[in-house]
Amino acid sequence: MTSQDELKKMAAIQAADLIDSGMVLGLGTGSTANFAIERIAERIQAADLQNIIGIPSSDRTEKLARRLNIPLTDLETHPEIDLTIDGADEVDPDLNLIKGGGGALLREKIIAQASRRNIVIVDESKLSPQLGTKWALPIEVVPFARKTEQLFLGSIGGSVTLRLDENNTPFLTNQQNFILDTHFGQISDPGGLVSRLNDRAGIVEHGLFLGLATDVIVAGRENIRHLRRNNGSI
Ligand code: A5P
Repeated sequence: MTSQDELKKMAAIQAADLIDSGMVLGLGTGSTANFAIERIAERIQAADLQNIIGIPSSDRTEKLARRLNIPLTDLETHPEIDLTIDGADEVDPDLNLIKGGGGALLREKIIAQASRRNIVIVDESKLSPQLGTKWALPIEVVPFARKTEQLFLGSIGGSVTLRLDENNTPFLTNQQNFILDTHFGQISDPGGLVSRLNDRAGIVEHGLFLGLATDVIVAGRENIRHLRRNNGSI
């Protein structure tokens, strides 16, 4: 039987094999994105990819990419990205996403918005009939505003947990902010929720990625599917 990690790797390899030489790449964060980064490094090593440069979406990804000798740049030097490959926590039938399980949602969203093409790679367990069915929404808040944003999220129907690290102290993002993992149950109006969250000064970013994925590669036990936005296949 194929393990979840094998499925993640299959989706990652299929995505990394779509990269062409000369591209500026967004490098996602998480266990699935790591498989794609490893594949990119293999292709560079084999001289099958040349003149590639990557922008990491987290300190963790940067460390991995440096270890694998993938050339890196930043958005200051390369503000336009050709292709980003990243994972997701939940994917709905319209290819909208919940992301941020790894806490890298802010940089991931900046990179996704700067990218011409965003390929999301998942195993089939990430597919969901409606966002919020399987996953709490990660919401990044500045520490100064933690309590007031927690009360706000409760007032709009969220059940909030402050994310902790392995030492049982508040998890800090790469921007030194907190994450409030907020269960809303099934989110019937993701666009409406985005507007309410975006209105709050203490909320830096949230894990709702609407309309950003151009492609989703889903590895399942039966097959691998490549879903595309706007071509009738979703
Ligand atoms: C990182 O902040 C997240 O957005 C990840 O991309 C997401 O949590 C998927 O992670 P896995 O690939 O480890 O499941």
